Amino acid sequence: MNTMELIAPCHFGLEAVLKREINDLGYDISEVDDGRVTFIGDAEAVARININSRTAERVLIKVGSFDAYTWDDLFEGTKALMWEEYIPSDGRFWVTKASSVKSRLFSPSDIQSVMKKAMVERMKQTYHVERFPESGTDYPVRTFIYKDKVTVGLDTTGDSLHKRGYRLLTAKAPIAENLAAALIMLTPWRADRILVDPFCGSGTIPIEAALMAANIAPGLNREFRASEWEQIVPARVWKDAYDEAREMVNTDIETDIQGYDIDDEVLAVARRNAELAGVNKLIHFQKRDVSELRHPGRYGFIITNPPYGERLMDRSELGELYAALGRQYKGLNDFSLYMITSYDEAEKAIGRKADKNRKIYNGMLQTRFYSFMGPKPPKRRQENA
Ligand SMILES: C[S@@+](CC[C@H](N)C(=O)[O-])C[C@H]1O[C@@H](n2cnc3c(N)ncnc32)[C@H](O)[C@@H]1O
Repeated sequence: MNTMELIAPCHFGLEAVLKREINDLGYDISEVDDGRVTFIGDAEAVARININSRTAERVLIKVGSFDAYTWDDLFEGTKALMWEEYIPSDGRFWVTKASSVKSRLFSPSDIQSVMKKAMVERMKQTYHVERFPESGTDYPVRTFIYKDKVTVGLDTTGDSLHKRGYRLLTAKAPIAENLAAALIMLTPWRADRILVDPFCGSGTIPIEAALMAANIAPGLNREFRASEWEQIVPARVWKDAYDEAREMVNTDIETDIQGYDIDDEVLAVARRNAELAGVNKLIHFQKRDVSELRHPGRYGFIITNPPYGERLMDRSELGELYAALGRQYKGLNDFSLYMITSYDEAEKAIGRKADKNRKIYNGMLQTRFYSFMGPKPPKRRQENA
């Protein structure tokens, strides 16, 4: 199968996790930039990354890249790309998103319209027609310009990959599913360890953990834009990729994944979402104030997204809430605590300096992912040793 360069955008700060995921699925990375990872793949990779990646935002086929300092450069550079290799003569094509950082060409709407005109010019020449009906399948294009270098990709995904299909109902301030998954993957948590989210809201963190524990690919129950592009990713390739993912599923496992929240309504949403995701049997949701947080186990993980203040609570109330989390955490037996927040007094309120903190952008909001590491469990003796 022909290889091509593929681009997977992600949340800023999560490039390393996405890179590991792509490597683990068997593909070589060619470039890592802020907010995206470029790798080498084929049609099978388009299907497999869309279906299996827990942390990517989408998968683009890189059509090309070039420098552009003027609108003419942008027009000519876009026209020089081999659009006809991807888009048939009845395809509907447009630049759905353009972003520009530290570059001379800046206005997204102008970038979009110049590129569209250039694509039409190119296609007129290659298809020898004057007008395009654009009555066929959609081919959305995404463009990033960074320091005057334009990178152009065709979006194979459609609805962003964080939309797994299980969160029909949302609660207040939900965390994106791919961000939740990436946070879990930044910790040493594994399916045989305890995971508690004391501020679980609509259940995103426990649900993503349960999907991982049961090896359920996040895209198993949805479709992607490129499933209509038979000439690029044939139906047989999609079928094989779904079959491969389906064979990996194992829900017949023991887990200790707990989701607590103070709000009954939100917990009803979490339970419904877990059911839709097919993991309700693997998670225990319960109404519980963080000041009552307890767990009898040892070496567990708290992975959580407490209220930040921006959206949910008055900032003055936050100190007490985080202090309560800190107090209860101290009472747990050798647990580790991981939390994402933009509350800058979080460590002070918890009463301990984090062992690590990592800057992550949750949309436009800068947050930190704090790690308070507990001791590791002793290594299990090998059976029959
Ligand atoms: C940022 S939201 C969590 C969102 C969640 N990660 C999701 O994806 O839906 C914070 C949650 O903390 C809950 N909360 C606020 N105060 C609480 C308390 N004292 N104890 C437990 N939960 C609390 C809120 O009801 C809210 O659902």
